[in-house]
Amino acid sequence: MNIAIITGVTSGMGKELAKQIVPQLHKTDEIWLLARRKELMQELARTMRIKTRVIPIDLADERELGRFREVLSIASPRITLLACCAGVGSYGAFDSQEDEKISAMLRLNVTAQTMFVKLCLPYLRKGSRIIQFASGAAFVPQPGFAVYAATKAYGYALARALGRELAKKGIRVTTVCPGPVDTPFLEHAYGGGVSMSAWKKRTMVSAERVVEKAIEDCKRHRAVSVCGLPVQLLYLATQSAQNLALHFL
Ligand SMILES: NC(=O)c1ccc[n+]([C@@H]2O[C@H](COP(=O)([O-])OP(=O)(O)OC[C@H]3O[C@@H](n4cnc5c(N)ncnc54)[C@H](OP(=O)(O)O)[C@@H]3O)[C@@H](O)[C@H]2O)c1
Repeated sequence: MNIAIITGVTSGMGKELAKQIVPQLHKTDEIWLLARRKELMQELARTMRIKTRVIPIDLADERELGRFREVLSIASPRITLLACCAGVGSYGAFDSQEDEKISAMLRLNVTAQTMFVKLCLPYLRKGSRIIQFASGAAFVPQPGFAVYAATKAYGYALARALGRELAKKGIRVTTVCPGPVDTPFLEHAYGGGVSMSAWKKRTMVSAERVVEKAIEDCKRHRAVSVCGLPVQLLYLATQSAQNLALHFL
């Protein structure tokens, strides 16, 4: 059985990806939808023109990841697409941020993200694709968003390196690095009356646009997908040397 796995499908870009990806999938029998909110996934599944399996899971919980490993081992599927969209962010000065919020970002964006890809990897084959959501925040340290940006820098670095390792097996990795995107993420990240800078508000793009570009870049085997001129300029200014270095590694 060939499957596509998408995480973070109850909101924002994961939900948008689940909607846009169906006509683009080749040789895929089922989509597995993953997030914590079951009802929202069931609602989405009803609108999708492909067989879907709804898997409620807290990716930041090690035991739940362990159970998912067993589900995979029983089904023994071939994963044609692994799209990791789940992520969490929290704005605020480091010294006054709640420990739990910092810990939640590290657990999901770093540990869970790494271990989830690792446990799915045995089921990816030549031609399979990974789409991993990092962020434009990966390109420069961000005061006020210090931990979130650091987790995204980690995710970006991991995806770029994995992309080079897995290319030998015919598996392509695209890491998606948008600037601010109009999704509920921002409300959660900036909650508590803190408002985004005028610059961020001006450069905000829609989830539809980011996902459309991500799918296009994935089809073209591009390692990085950057949507919108401001972030593209930031990418070019900060990552050129790294891109060059990657070719010699
Ligand atoms: N929006 C932006 O401005 C922006 C910009 C750059 C990058 N990004 C990145 O893009 C990705 C998608 O962001 P978005 O804007 O679509 O976010 P979003 O609208 O807040 O959606 C986040 C998704 O992650 C899931 N999730 C959160 N914690 C989870 C957990 N512990 N276990 C399983 N699923 C969990 C949520 O589902 P449940 O709550 O149902 O579990 C939800 O479906 C994230 O990695 C984010 O860091 C966002």
